[in-house]
Amino acid sequence: MENFEQRQHSERAILVSVSVQLLDDLDAEEFRLLAQSAGAEILEHVSVQRQKPDPKFFIGSGKVEEIAELVRALDAELVIFDHSLSPAQERNLEKVLKCRVIDRTGLILDIFALRARTHEGKLQVELAQLKHLSTRLIRGFTGNLEQQKGGIGLRGPGESQLETDRRLIRVRITQLKDKLIKVQQTRLQGRAARQKAAIPTISLVGYTNAGKSTLFNILAKSDVYAADQLFATLDPTLRRLEWDGIGTVVLADTVGFVRNLQHDLVESFKATLEETLEATLLLHVVDSSSPNMPEQIEAVESVLKEIGADAPILHVYNKIDLSGDTAKITYKAPELPDRVYLSAHSGQGLDLLGQAVQQCLMGQLQQFDLVLKPAYGKLRTQLYTLNVIQSEHYDDEGDLHLSVCIAPHKLEQLIKQAHLPLDEIVGAKSFLFHRVLEEFESKQE
Ligand code: GTP
Repeated sequence: MENFEQRQHSERAILVSVSVQLLDDLDAEEFRLLAQSAGAEILEHVSVQRQKPDPKFFIGSGKVEEIAELVRALDAELVIFDHSLSPAQERNLEKVLKCRVIDRTGLILDIFALRARTHEGKLQVELAQLKHLSTRLIRGFTGNLEQQKGGIGLRGPGESQLETDRRLIRVRITQLKDKLIKVQQTRLQGRAARQKAAIPTISLVGYTNAGKSTLFNILAKSDVYAADQLFATLDPTLRRLEWDGIGTVVLADTVGFVRNLQHDLVESFKATLEETLEATLLLHVVDSSSPNMPEQIEAVESVLKEIGADAPILHVYNKIDLSGDTAKITYKAPELPDRVYLSAHSGQGLDLLGQAVQQCLMGQLQQFDLVLKPAYGKLRTQLYTLNVIQSEHYDDEGDLHLSVCIAPHKLEQLIKQAHLPLDEIVGAKSFLFHRVLEEFESKQE
């Protein structure tokens, strides 16, 4: 979390968690970390046991009174719930607590607003915030927040403006959508240029606090092209660097994952993960010292699946200085690394990361010489759209000879989707393509 912008003034907050059983320590700790990331000064963390939510306040009215007492006694400005509240529940709570109330969605959106560094990410988050806030326009306590610009959950659009005119929100939403379309077009052009040059992109993903930014900074530091203007100006979380044995790669840092990401948040989260979707390789950074490690891995991989990220994954088990693991690479198949154990702090295993990434990428991008019959033009169009064609010419028969540089799995996918006979397409077959071909044929039998 070290990259979070620090708020000038931290807001005095009371946290509320509700659970059926006694609150799990790890969940409680994570919630506190999130609140702190958004700039809260935690005055108290109230844990409420409850079988099912109360429709009016989410928690029982007796508890609400207790928290109202705390708000007065501790002079709290804000109460944050670790759950989704309905707009009505938020309003009812604010009336009794006489301070602002935000829910988990509001909190996470706030963190996204702080963390979104790309122009597109910022626009997406603002859009999500506007949508979230527009259902909460008639508020109890926040009706007169004119002077309180920009507290937790209010960053971005600014609530007082929202309340003055619903129409303004609609206009702003339309403007944002237009801007987003333009930004996305520009991004596509940048990506196309990169693909044309066949530069592999490595994206760091992982649960919040796993150590992505630490690792990113270490890898980027050894980078001779750190000041590369093109990428540096595009986005500070992108670096172009020379990877041993591979050549130029683009390294992308991403926002941390959190569990229970609600569906409507996935969209804005996705925008902060734009590079992830395009990545040649994902480095899934795991905090190997966390007792919650299996759930965190699962949370990250299920979101990756949901957003359609299908690049191969290399797991980086970080913080072995704490977990006591030894630095090593484990393999899922010969030459195909699955995990690297290292410590970004002590530097143990960093050399192994270099080696494992090299092995993964070598298997990723391959040169293929394809021969396409005139009837297979659709495949050519797709390859062209992906910008992976390096050269092409027609022979006397009218067949098209293409030289492409592409990940084998991607090529296989395209050919299968187009229902084309693999064996007729392959010209000079590489070793790997033989394997793909064999698999394909055995499935057909
Ligand atoms: P988000 O920004 O929340 O997504 O977190 P992140 O994954 O970018 O994690 P970050 O790099 O900010 O690291 C989180 C904390 O773990 C920081 O306090 C780091 O100093 C610490 N950390 C990172 N790597 C290691 C490591 O190898 N060992 C130890 N002991 N601490 C580490």
